[in-house]
Amino acid sequence: MTKEILDRIENTNQKYLKNYIDHLGAEKVPQKLDEQLSSMDWSYLDLINGKGQQRGKFSPLGAMEISEIEQNKEKFKKIGLDAIRKGEVGAILLAGGQGTRLGFKKAKGMFNIGVDNQLFIFQQLIRNLLDVTDEAGAFVPLYIMTSQKNDADTRAFFKEHDYFGYNPEYIQYFVQDMVPSIDFDGNVLLESNDSLAMSPNGNGGWFSSMVRAGLDKDLTKRNIQWLNVFAVDNVLQRIADPVFIGATIASGNECGSKVVRKANPNEKVGALCLEDGKPSIVEYYELTEEMANARDEKGTLLYGFGVILNYLFKVDKLWKIVDEKLPVHVVKKKVPYMTEQGEVVRPTEPNAYKFELLILDMVYMMDNCLSFEVDRRKEFAPVKNATGVDSVDTARELLKENGVEL
Ligand code: UTP
Repeated sequence: MTKEILDRIENTNQKYLKNYIDHLGAEKVPQKLDEQLSSMDWSYLDLINGKGQQRGKFSPLGAMEISEIEQNKEKFKKIGLDAIRKGEVGAILLAGGQGTRLGFKKAKGMFNIGVDNQLFIFQQLIRNLLDVTDEAGAFVPLYIMTSQKNDADTRAFFKEHDYFGYNPEYIQYFVQDMVPSIDFDGNVLLESNDSLAMSPNGNGGWFSSMVRAGLDKDLTKRNIQWLNVFAVDNVLQRIADPVFIGATIASGNECGSKVVRKANPNEKVGALCLEDGKPSIVEYYELTEEMANARDEKGTLLYGFGVILNYLFKVDKLWKIVDEKLPVHVVKKKVPYMTEQGEVVRPTEPNAYKFELLILDMVYMMDNCLSFEVDRRKEFAPVKNATGVDSVDTARELLKENGVEL
């Protein structure tokens, strides 16, 4: 271990690391931990004391509403299906999260949402994608982002289940980057004798992780022009939806975002809007009462379309922004850690900060974005919690309502 690292540990008064090194001796620190410490971004320690991100001036961004989409549905669908058939559309499944709120130890996609039948989340997502690829008569290349924690399990699970009927030649995986967690007193946490408590770095770094994995060459080889990025936990979402793809292409925008009408003005979802004239997402707690309740002449809430983490990005644009840095968000989470006595604690309440890049900051890097309304009872059933709001229970109800046998 270098003197520089030892000095940093000393100067920042790292409770766990100092104790660990005092007991073991700096020269005996295992290679893995040594490497993690050498490559660690120590500026995270400054971030936890810093203020939140400075936001610009918000203004509303009108959505293409369901009525307008219905009128043009066939036209949009044809454009979308053509793009899929030409192999110009890829899909990115963001499956690197840890799903701490659900409290399921394995990858969230391995969760069985079925009741009488077995229905894994991954299985349901593949079914949704197969609806489109069957109609198009062409497979959509699917890139699955995993983390170091769930990569092997995820790959094995897909293989064991025969890729749920998808063509494995069209499935590839890439692993996202990991970052250390720091407790509320500024101590870098250890998770075991040879590792810091590392967590995936959020869902915003997917494109750079993909490039690092060499998959940029695959995008070029296949001539993929559009990437539909989606979360693992919305079991009702339409993936590579040709109508959405067609509408985004026809609109001339470089990005599209599926949105749902808020259930009420104060619903806790981020709303698609403009920030200093650029597409952006305003969080519910950033809205003033006046903004939250403002309506247009038709009575539609001006900040009333919530994002559901289903975006379409133009690949040309992604190349242009790949080197731009996304802001780091500091979030409080439950992070297992090893005490000075060597015991592993699994907290039941948030105990530490994680550092995440978020995909919504990528939307802000776009010059424009089509806000595309979908029916929330047909396309939005997120599995975030075990019970209550956005839970296994609510998702099951919505799946049944949409004719899925559980
Ligand atoms: P969430 O923000 O809901 O996070 O992820 P999470 O990790 O799944 O769950 P909690 O907050 O710990 O309960 C939204 C989407 O982004 C992906 C998730 O897998 C999910 O599809 N994600 C999140 C990543 O791929 N990597 C991350 O580091 C974080």
